[in-house]
Amino acid sequence: MKIFLDTANLDSIKKYNDMGLVDGVTTNPTLLSKEKGNPADIMHEIVRIVKGPVSLEVVGTTYDSMMEEAHRLKKYGRNVVVKIPMLPDGMKAVKKLSEEGIETNVTLVFSANQAVLAAKAGASYVSPFIGRLDDAGQDGMTLIREIVQIFNNYKFTTNVLVASVRHPMHVVEAGKVGAHVVTLPPDILGKMMAHPLTDKGLAAFLADWEKVKKENPKLS
Ligand code: E4P
Repeated sequence: MKIFLDTANLDSIKKYNDMGLVDGVTTNPTLLSKEKGNPADIMHEIVRIVKGPVSLEVVGTTYDSMMEEAHRLKKYGRNVVVKIPMLPDGMKAVKKLSEEGIETNVTLVFSANQAVLAAKAGASYVSPFIGRLDDAGQDGMTLIREIVQIFNNYKFTTNVLVASVRHPMHVVEAGKVGAHVVTLPPDILGKMMAHPLTDKGLAAFLADWEKVKKENPKLS
């Protein structure tokens, strides 16, 4: 399972990238709106720092505007994946971009039918938003299970990218059902790393070593 960071925050991206934990990044207009600075500069910098796929989203909603933006965003770097909303014109853009060899990530997917259509249009990734479904009283993980099963049944090559992740158990469940990628807000990646028994165990090891040092002054 690949781990992407769902953020436009450069400090977080650098921090986790230095640990070797970032297989890719997803951004969207809302995430960019939270950061200070020119969004174009931020996107350039993310694409430079991260070696894996970086999803940059178009804001146009017509075929022509999405294609124009897609070509502009793709110039940011070879690892750019163009994020396209789940719209009829979006599917047309995905088909054309796929023919041109440009990778796409279809965003705002909330049903298995939408995911199937995005895959058939040629999407490299589909992004079902599970947290927003949970918020609306529907089980987001059930959708991931359905999409993974359908894609497996028909050997679709489109990656299932679990988005709108709200807590570490979403990651465990996504892995169990065979999703290809999870994209995580940085705080969730931090939470995945932590466990109170790790902290307690380390404190005990260090305290015991202090006792050993007292009894063996030559030890450093
Ligand atoms: C996906 O690519 C989106 O950027 C993101 O996961 C949306 O998550 P949210 O529902 O927390 O805004």
